[in-house]
Amino acid sequence: MQVARPRRSILAVPGSSRKMIDKAKGLPADEIFLDLEDAVAPIAKAQARAEIVDALNSDGWGEQIRVVRVNDWTTEWTHADVIEVVSGAGARIDAILLPKVTDASHVQALDLLLTQVERANGLEVGRIGIEAQIENAIGLTNINAIATASPRVQTLVFGPADFMASINMRTLVVGEQPEGYEPGDAYHHILMTILMAARAHGLEAIDGPYLQIRDVEAFRRAAGRTAALGFDGKWVLHPGQIDAANEVFSPRQADYDHAEMILDAYEFHTSAAGGARGAAMLGDEMIDEASAKMALVVAGKGRAAGM
Ligand code: GLV
Ligand code: MG
Repeated sequence: MQVARPRRSILAVPGSSRKMIDKAKGLPADEIFLDLEDAVAPIAKAQARAEIVDALNSDGWGEQIRVVRVNDWTTEWTHADVIEVVSGAGARIDAILLPKVTDASHVQALDLLLTQVERANGLEVGRIGIEAQIENAIGLTNINAIATASPRVQTLVFGPADFMASINMRTLVVGEQPEGYEPGDAYHHILMTILMAARAHGLEAIDGPYLQIRDVEAFRRAAGRTAALGFDGKWVLHPGQIDAANEVFSPRQADYDHAEMILDAYEFHTSAAGGARGAAMLGDEMIDEASAKMALVVAGKGRAAGM
């Protein structure tokens, strides 16, 4: 069984800023995505691709999951984004983040292109994953088809800024409730739809950014709400938000301890039985391959958090 790498904190870094990329290498975010989309002006896209390739091939990276966000398929840039960064640094990219996904064809097109670029460059075919950003009503409507469009899909990511704009929600503070709707949660339907699709198809559910970057307590509150629902992690736009995200999306100590106990008991059972799989008992609790897998997810997150 593989330990799933957690994605509690996903740091957004503009692909055009070598200084910010170099700084990000040493930060304790679980994932870093180098952006070619909204953080990079149209005139700077080409330079940013080259910067990203060079930075990915440089030394000093930690254990972070490394991702590049390309531009969406309605632009003129997506194909060149993928070809350049994967040809130049494919072995050092874990996934491509695709924004504004509206239907399965967006994911399939990226999958096909990735396969060709991997082949052409002697890379392992199919290793690079896809993170699909859900940022408008049509994407949400097609979410199950998007989630299952390719075995490369690893995460479904909420894009609140674009989403709110696309549905005319009356708010300017990304990640906060629109004035006049409290105490309801204007995001609830969208969040739960993303979470259900993720869980139905074995993917990770990722919450998007919170733009009041200096207010870490407000970030913690917003993150705590999606963590409580079951989301796996959240974007961070500033290094100051990383620790809060890692903490909020880590398992509680009691859950972590329980998970380690399940794994110990299961390990003991399977080795005592000569590797045979089956059910075992932990006190009054029956455990099997499936509960051991669930325990591994929690234990993996806890271990990564140094619990
Ligand atoms: C992120 O891309 C967002 O639109 O919130
Ligand atoms: Mg967006």
